[in-house]
Amino acid sequence: MTIDFNNISTITDESIAKLNEELSQKSPREILKFALKSFDQIAISFSGAEDVTLIEMAHKLAPPLSVFSLDTGRLHPETYQFIEKVRAHYGLNIDIMTPNSNALEAFVKEKGLYSFFQDGHKECCGIRKVEPLKRKLATLDAWISGQRKDQSPSTRSSVPVIEIDHGNSTDQRKLIKFNPLANWTSKEVWDYMRMSEVPFNALHERGFISIGCEPCTRPVLPNQHEREGRWWWEEATQKECGLHITKQS
Ligand code: ADX
Ligand code: SF4
Repeated sequence: MTIDFNNISTITDESIAKLNEELSQKSPREILKFALKSFDQIAISFSGAEDVTLIEMAHKLAPPLSVFSLDTGRLHPETYQFIEKVRAHYGLNIDIMTPNSNALEAFVKEKGLYSFFQDGHKECCGIRKVEPLKRKLATLDAWISGQRKDQSPSTRSSVPVIEIDHGNSTDQRKLIKFNPLANWTSKEVWDYMRMSEVPFNALHERGFISIGCEPCTRPVLPNQHEREGRWWWEEATQKECGLHITKQS
């Protein structure tokens, strides 16, 4: 069945899987082009790290772009500075999403500022990242993330370039998620960034590869996998914060 994104009955796991096979043969730029052409209500989810690659590519394809960032309140100063640098460099209006203040205040009052070291990151990520993301996604028909297979052998080895975000879909509306960089390696991303002279987060000059919140991210040693710098006190299979759960719970 050919997909018509305006006709929900044509958007099924099967039709999307078929489209994924076709799009997987294409370059990130072509996948982005397809995504931006197919949807008006579509936005790039920008973490302030090497996913700036997506902004560079999309900027060359189809400005004006819609970009949002989840400000957890715990990002590194370098990441905040970088988000502002990207805003100015590309002339973008980046939609900064913040946590629900009542939920955050109650959580911090009860558990303090570092509870994740005791009982895991899920609760804090739920309040600081996942809920604001869900609020943003409720306004969109599709979103674009910078996830790649090589970022985590434990949790991302089968990231598709297009999928239905079931966790954020309803019977009336299917939310589509694109991961245009899924099949690129870290080296390909960095070759592209150097070639295109894309600005980057200053933390990359200090041994950080994967960048998340300040208390939960650290630089890695030679030959350590980038994901080992994230939530290092937890099991590898737990190193996801919930942003990228696309299956129905
Ligand atoms: S995470 O789920 O472990 O935090 P990761 O840092 O690998 O994610 O980034 C993968 C993609 O998730 C990014 O390219 C981006 O699309 C999205 N993402 C992660 N953190 C944020 C954030 N703070 N704001 C917006 N998007 C984010
Ligand atoms: Fe909280 Fe750490 Fe998750 Fe950031 S990464 S939201 S500080 S647990």
